Amino acid sequence: MTTNFAVNRALFDEVMVPNYAPASVIPVRGQGSRVWDQNEREYIDFAGGIAVSSLGHCHPALVGALKQQADKLWHLSNVLTNEPALRLAKKLVDATFADKVYFANSGAEANEAAFKLARRWALDKFGEQKQQIISFGKSFHGRTFFTVTVGGQASYSDGFGPKPGAVAHAEFNNLDSVKALISDNTCAIVVEPIQGEGGIIPAEPAFLQGLRDLCDQHNALLVFDEVQTGVGRTGKLYAYMNYGVTPDILTTAKSLGGGFPIGAMLTTNAIASHLKVGTHGSTYGGNPLACAVAEAVIDTVNQPELLATVLRNEQMFRECLQQVNSQYQVFTEVRGQGMLLGAVLTEKYRGRARDFFLAAADQGLMVLVAGPDVIRFAPSLVITEQDIREGMQRFAAAVEQVVGA
Ligand SMILES: Cc1ncc(COP(=O)(O)O)c(C=O)c1O
Repeated sequence: MTTNFAVNRALFDEVMVPNYAPASVIPVRGQGSRVWDQNEREYIDFAGGIAVSSLGHCHPALVGALKQQADKLWHLSNVLTNEPALRLAKKLVDATFADKVYFANSGAEANEAAFKLARRWALDKFGEQKQQIISFGKSFHGRTFFTVTVGGQASYSDGFGPKPGAVAHAEFNNLDSVKALISDNTCAIVVEPIQGEGGIIPAEPAFLQGLRDLCDQHNALLVFDEVQTGVGRTGKLYAYMNYGVTPDILTTAKSLGGGFPIGAMLTTNAIASHLKVGTHGSTYGGNPLACAVAEAVIDTVNQPELLATVLRNEQMFRECLQQVNSQYQVFTEVRGQGMLLGAVLTEKYRGRARDFFLAAADQGLMVLVAGPDVIRFAPSLVITEQDIREGMQRFAAAVEQVVGA
């Protein structure tokens, strides 16, 4: 592509809405868990585009699926259905508790569909007083106005006028706080099996089981937001499979497309029947390109060998982080599961996660933060041992940089 202007970070400030503050470098290509910027500087990717690039960059199966579909059919809208969407839906249904799938384009949209469905289900079955949605402090469900209001950080939803009502927030991993809020007017409890943006905080098994029981007692739906935990990230196809607690509705996005935008809501026949013709929709939902790529992701990820690799990689990550910590004493613990891990900073470094993130970038490593106190790792599920070890050397250098400063 030829241009008569410089494509650099300064151009961002000139032409983009300032809601993001991206780093100064601009990556231009990636392969596996390595990324190169405009100056050919190489980075190891422990961030995975925020738990999205489940099979790394330019995985041959995904590139192949995209190229093949690109030569066939790009878009129809939901006036018609298409083969990739039907194949993907069938594979998701076969692999999970669900009977039915709704396709969206992002995690927020999958959640928006889930919350609207829960409200409509409750209205149809019990009447309009059954509206309350219970979610949790520190939870994150997306940035549409409904999902950000259900999310547990008021600072994200404040300042946009009147919010959708009948949303209450309990304390994560505190069943009593849920009991204090729930009633027969509750239509749904929404929970992340591992809170991602909130700091990589796993739900305790008894907590999720308790939520299931409370939902059953009060005729409410249990919604698992698996946007961040789904598609192999925790070593199972979906995290609910680790807990043996089955939701009524599950949302999935991020890793599902491996970098191609797609989201989905999964549910049962009985609940799905309330989303009748015309009640909800999206022009792009179930787009053939997105579904063809996601089908290749599911085919590749939902294999025992690959899922076992995720847990082996977790072990390696934990061992390496332990080594770094025994030298520098910067973490109190490493939380999470599979390729969704959070290193929690000690009192001394509390509030400084961003400093580690910036130092890592200096050392040629992409990591993430999850709030001010947690360094988050969400790499490709199939990151190689060499990339883990080399990345961890760079991480140790980053820690040294912060500790020594
Ligand atoms: C648990 C969870 N739900 C929903 C979302 C929103 O997904 P998206 O950014 O694709 O709308 C995120 C994104 O970080 C998430 O972590």
